[in-house]
Amino acid sequence: MAWKTLDEMDLAGKVVLVRVDINVPVENGVVTDATRIEKIVPTLRDIIAKGGKPVLLAHFGRPKGKVVPEMSLKPLVPVLAEKLGLPVKFAEDCVGGPAKAAVAALGTGEVLLLENTRFHAGEEKNDAELSAGMAALGEVYVNDAFSAAHRAHSSTEGVAHILPAAAGRLMAAELKALEAALGNPVRPVTAVVGGAKVSTKLDLLGNLVSKVDNLVIGGGMANTFLVAQGISVGKSLAEHDMAETAREILKKAEAAGCTIVLPTDVVVAREFKAGAESEVVAADACPEDAMILDAGPAAVSRISEFFENSKTLIWNGPLGAFEIAPFDTATNAAAQKAAALTRAGALTSVAGGGDTVAALNKAGVAADFSYISTAGGAFLEWMEGKELPGVAALMS
Ligand code: 3PG
Repeated sequence: MAWKTLDEMDLAGKVVLVRVDINVPVENGVVTDATRIEKIVPTLRDIIAKGGKPVLLAHFGRPKGKVVPEMSLKPLVPVLAEKLGLPVKFAEDCVGGPAKAAVAALGTGEVLLLENTRFHAGEEKNDAELSAGMAALGEVYVNDAFSAAHRAHSSTEGVAHILPAAAGRLMAAELKALEAALGNPVRPVTAVVGGAKVSTKLDLLGNLVSKVDNLVIGGGMANTFLVAQGISVGKSLAEHDMAETAREILKKAEAAGCTIVLPTDVVVAREFKAGAESEVVAADACPEDAMILDAGPAAVSRISEFFENSKTLIWNGPLGAFEIAPFDTATNAAAQKAAALTRAGALTSVAGGGDTVAALNKAGVAADFSYISTAGGAFLEWMEGKELPGVAALMS
């Protein structure tokens, strides 16, 4: 791969602009999941170890080019300092006077966090002047924000063309894991794609059928595929107007030699609530007044067999309505199977996307997967086969 890593960069005595993604969930002023912050620690420690001074560029939320006080990055300073074990300073702007003064005052062994890049309208427009203003603050640019790399913004793309640029440790790890899962994987490869709607994952399904050997379809979108085969799904969530598109995906898969794995049995219920009375029926026997809320045990056994016969697994989206028990059963069981095979060294397993990580955490197996991406939208776009501007800009 043509991107540089920190190892190839001379950072001694240099101000290093680091694009990080610390767009973490916050509830009532408290960070509820600090994973993204924890994951950038190795990069920042390595930069400091190499004599560099890290200055962090980051966004938070979607303030749409305006200063929105609730979307300030300032409240994250103590969390960053705690996770890093280093002093973290803050500048009220990511360009101009306040930023320059804070950079000038930055001591060795300290980290500077700049205010939300999206407070400037130019950020999302990849405005050349804003990019130049950011670049003027440092001497080297490091992108450690794979999860924001699908955005062609000043801080993710523009600056990379102005300063010598490299991938941070997290970015490098993400790219390596994704390459192993879909770029140049050990075959056979099985993909699991779940979630509510076919319409939001059309490009992804279209790309995957030409890349993987088996494609397990779960969640609400499996219902649309059942409908496409003339099967009645009762009151289940399904996109009836996408039936033709689903048939085209099935045809494309057949032509590409990709096996599509749909549930052979399903869990149905009359209500979608915790502990609702449910039963297992064949996938073509959903009662008219019921809805499909999970894959059934026979489907899970079949999916497990595909995992056993695979060397690589890539997973995005739950198999059922995993937020509410007992409709998380198939997702948990399949995730545990994948985790066991990974622990045994028989499978490389990579997962990503917001819901997916939540589902794997709930199943208690996230730590057993080979790699869990920190990315949501970027992971999806990458699975769709799209070029990510933030990654492309690092290629020399
Ligand atoms: C994310 O949370 O997926 C990234 O931080 C990107 O955020 P965005 O979708 O607002 O660009």
